[in-house]
Amino acid sequence: MGQLGTEDLLHCSAMKIVVLYESRTGNTKRTAEYVAGAAAAAGADVKIASVASPPLNDLTSADLIFVGTWTDGIIIGGHMPGGRKNLYALPDLWDIPVAGFLTHAIHPGKVTRAFAKLLAYKGANVLVVRTFNRRNVPDGIAEFVADAIAAAGIDVGASN
Ligand SMILES: Cc1cc2nc3c(=O)[nH]c(=O)nc-3n(C[C@H](O)[C@H](O)[C@H](O)COP(=O)(O)O)c2cc1C
Repeated sequence: MGQLGTEDLLHCSAMKIVVLYESRTGNTKRTAEYVAGAAAAAGADVKIASVASPPLNDLTSADLIFVGTWTDGIIIGGHMPGGRKNLYALPDLWDIPVAGFLTHAIHPGKVTRAFAKLLAYKGANVLVVRTFNRRNVPDGIAEFVADAIAAAGIDVGASN
């Protein structure tokens, strides 16, 4: 075995972030990819997967999990996180810091509140939930990821 270089040390101690997405037509998946990219750019070790097939080992050791889905409603009301069946089927997120995000088309109503409730029901330590208009992605994604990392108290910049 050779000596460990700085890159290896940084990698060994990088904070672990998992990004999960639920997506019907690709907007939330695309948004999740931007979230994952911003987290990686901040120095984290990032895994991305669909809500339907979560990487269980990575979830249990994650410092922060992002969970994304789409807005389901009748535009003027009844806004709920989409893909609830898969979201409820996630393993218990007991006490893990979680940042939720959604995409919407026109009017998200109070969907962030409903999603925060769902994530809390799953046991998550909900830090922040934000929704993004599908037309404007990736606007605001870098700030959202930075806010979530700060709220989780992760100092990814000082990983060794
Ligand atoms: C059944 C259904 C209901 C929706 N209801 C709303 C809504 O109430 N408000 C809104 O802004 N967008 C609504 N949308 C739009 C989606 O939330 C939006 O297109 C989202 O970006 C889709 O994400 P996806 O491509 O990851 O599936 C609805 C979409 C569907 C399919």
